Amino acid sequence: MTPPRRSAAWYGKLDKDGFIHRSWMKNQGFPDHVFDGRPVIGICNTWSELTPCNSGLRVLAEAVKRGVWEAGGFPVEFPVTSLGETQMKPTAMLFRNLLAMDVEECIRAYGMDGVVLLGGCDKTTPGQVMGAASVDLPSIVVSAGPMLNGKWRGRDIGSGTDVWKFSEAVRAGDMTLADFMAAESGMSRSAGVCMTMGTASTMAALVEAMGLALPTNAALPAVDARRTALAHLTGRRIVEMVEEDLKPSDILNRAAFENAILVNAAVGGSTNAVVHLLAIAGRVGVDLTLADFELGGDIPLLVNCMPSGAYLMEDFAYAGGVPAVLAQLRDQLRPARTVLGGEIAAYAEGAEIFNDDVIRPVSNPVKPAAGLRVLRGNLAPDGAIVKPSAASDALLEHEGAAYVFENIEQLKTEIDRDDLPVTPDTVLVLKGCGPKGYPGMPEVGNMPIPAKLVRAGVRDMVRVSDARMSGTAFGTVVLHVAPEAQDGGPLGLVRTGDRIRLSASNGELTLLVEEAELAARRARWQPDPPHYTRGYAKLYVDHVLQADRGADLDFLVGKDTRPVTRESH
Ligand code: FES
Repeated sequence: MTPPRRSAAWYGKLDKDGFIHRSWMKNQGFPDHVFDGRPVIGICNTWSELTPCNSGLRVLAEAVKRGVWEAGGFPVEFPVTSLGETQMKPTAMLFRNLLAMDVEECIRAYGMDGVVLLGGCDKTTPGQVMGAASVDLPSIVVSAGPMLNGKWRGRDIGSGTDVWKFSEAVRAGDMTLADFMAAESGMSRSAGVCMTMGTASTMAALVEAMGLALPTNAALPAVDARRTALAHLTGRRIVEMVEEDLKPSDILNRAAFENAILVNAAVGGSTNAVVHLLAIAGRVGVDLTLADFELGGDIPLLVNCMPSGAYLMEDFAYAGGVPAVLAQLRDQLRPARTVLGGEIAAYAEGAEIFNDDVIRPVSNPVKPAAGLRVLRGNLAPDGAIVKPSAASDALLEHEGAAYVFENIEQLKTEIDRDDLPVTPDTVLVLKGCGPKGYPGMPEVGNMPIPAKLVRAGVRDMVRVSDARMSGTAFGTVVLHVAPEAQDGGPLGLVRTGDRIRLSASNGELTLLVEEAELAARRARWQPDPPHYTRGYAKLYVDHVLQADRGADLDFLVGKDTRPVTRESH
């Protein structure tokens, strides 16, 4: 016998509680028959005017509703915390776990049978997936989609990537401030997320590669009518998923995460995918570790998009999108189930490349090996990462003297000083930007090149920190050093003048200082006083895990699928 739907505990009861649950919903004009036991589908929306990347989600929510009604479901849209990457201080990452809690508790507390997750901007996708995975109701993602290509002075410009380039050009005296300001309007000219292969598009691509969204979800532009149609079809599909009881735990197994790692390499995806995949894996009990990201090491860079390549997401969509990439990786893909109930390989069936400069075939990649490199050594006992596809080849094997910024304020004060004692061989080190230190692990790891070196033509240096960097950024940037400085990691012991060796090929990050000297420094080391002493930020600092564990909160790891049995009245 089929068990009663979860929503029946809200809307199916012929008592005072059932009366209350139905009657208050009816104030929105819902007639009796929608409470007849049909699947109730939550539409979890991160739309907000403060998250401009997600500004198209109202349109998509309406399309999802059409699909849900059409398939015989009852759609109910609800808002959750929205995280606008470019707008939030100190960093949207501080609040990813808050969104995940919000999503989890809303899904659990309300009478729904399945959920459609409408996200887009960087942290919204992982936050929603983390929360939904911890409740484990049938769930499917519709992404906001990227903005149209940026256009300025007759050429394409990319979100983030060109901001960093323009900013350095202004500092070098190669671009006027007036031109810099004028480029703003051309960069962001439609609804949607950053149209480079930044974190938002990376996470959309990985969600598709993990089978949590319908094929083509990642790349279709936000304003493309085909995305609205995809949202409609997603609404239809979630109703079927409820009937099939197809849950995140049926989809998010180790194979799905390995596919995500392979695709992240092939698309030149964001380093932020590491912390997000680790956090999602923690929710579903998959024992994913930093070492697993080495799987992508030999995967070629196939997608020629900024920041690792030349094109933008609109080009990627028209060239074939994620299905075309999956087709190129067909031999490496692990068998894994998708929201369609079949295998991920089905997403690649019939997929073609329509522009082989944007999506390269395996026989002619942008770079032969594109995966992230996991680094270890006495400077990062629990690991660090570097993204070779966005780095300078010559700097991936490097030894140099450190110049240390103890915190972000010191960096901002000193970086443009003409007497800063640095050379192109210096290793810039930034402390205090990890999960606990900042707090929230901001995207400041791609420190600006010191102004005097920019003027001399230097465009890249080795940089080491416990921070993250934007998925739109580039450079030889060692990130996510764990443990972080504020948590007592060796990064906190580095002093200006110490020598540091980076060897991406050997997976090595070494502080060339005698252990006895490090022990003496450790004995005198003190953490910085906390920046936040109350509220969510205090909860976060008290419970956040290090980057190698996905920077989730320790008490949110895992899931709780028990029914809620107590009533409010
Ligand atoms: Fe929102 Fe890039 S800032 S997607």
